[in-house]
Amino acid sequence: MSLTIAIPKGRLGTQAIEMLKSAGVGESIDEKSRKLVFKDENRNLNFILLKNSDVITYVENGIADMGISGKDMIMENSADIYERYKMNIGRCKMSVAGIKGKRVFNDDTIIKVATKFPETAKKYFNGKGQKIKIIKLNGSIELAPILGLSDVIVDIVETGNTLKANGLEVFEDMYNISAMIISNKISYKFKRKEIKEIIELIRKEDTE
Ligand code: PRP
Repeated sequence: MSLTIAIPKGRLGTQAIEMLKSAGVGESIDEKSRKLVFKDENRNLNFILLKNSDVITYVENGIADMGISGKDMIMENSADIYERYKMNIGRCKMSVAGIKGKRVFNDDTIIKVATKFPETAKKYFNGKGQKIKIIKLNGSIELAPILGLSDVIVDIVETGNTLKANGLEVFEDMYNISAMIISNKISYKFKRKEIKEIIELIRKEDTE
């Protein structure tokens, strides 16, 4: 039975593709080409390259049987999928950050939070009893507090270089994030053996 595997493009995708290749699968994937579908005829695999935030949609709808997605996207989308294996790549934190020395929350005012992750941010601040207004952005989140669009940001921090380069600092770490192998629920019923084989191959390469 053939398997379709969704791979994110970008920073996480580069690491994921490298790992797949050292596991001996997906040798045909060429990130630099403009192609978005690659085949591994020997193993009967199809790889589709997607925007990070779209991997879950393709897996949830059964277009891809399985995929690699960041835990940040999984939390944000609360999709009807299985999380099958937590990987060691894509490790980072989701944090609240803002202008260095200007920590503003934990008071009675409504704070403005700029983020790509509105649902996750809402849940987090609700849990703390902090009233917020969400400002949904799609990238360069760090600009928002600098230009006065928001008081804080909720974003991914990996090396911390982006925050530092823009005069920001972490106020609070929220969640540990890493990449996750996810599967479609029906695929996991009917292609369990094939999915588990791929996970096992990846697991062997996924050392800390
Ligand atoms: C993420 C995140 C930060 C940056 C953090 O953005 O939104 O901007 O990485 O990484 P660092 O701590 O190593 O500096 P990404 O590169 O995914 O781009 P995007 O803003 O277009 O989503």
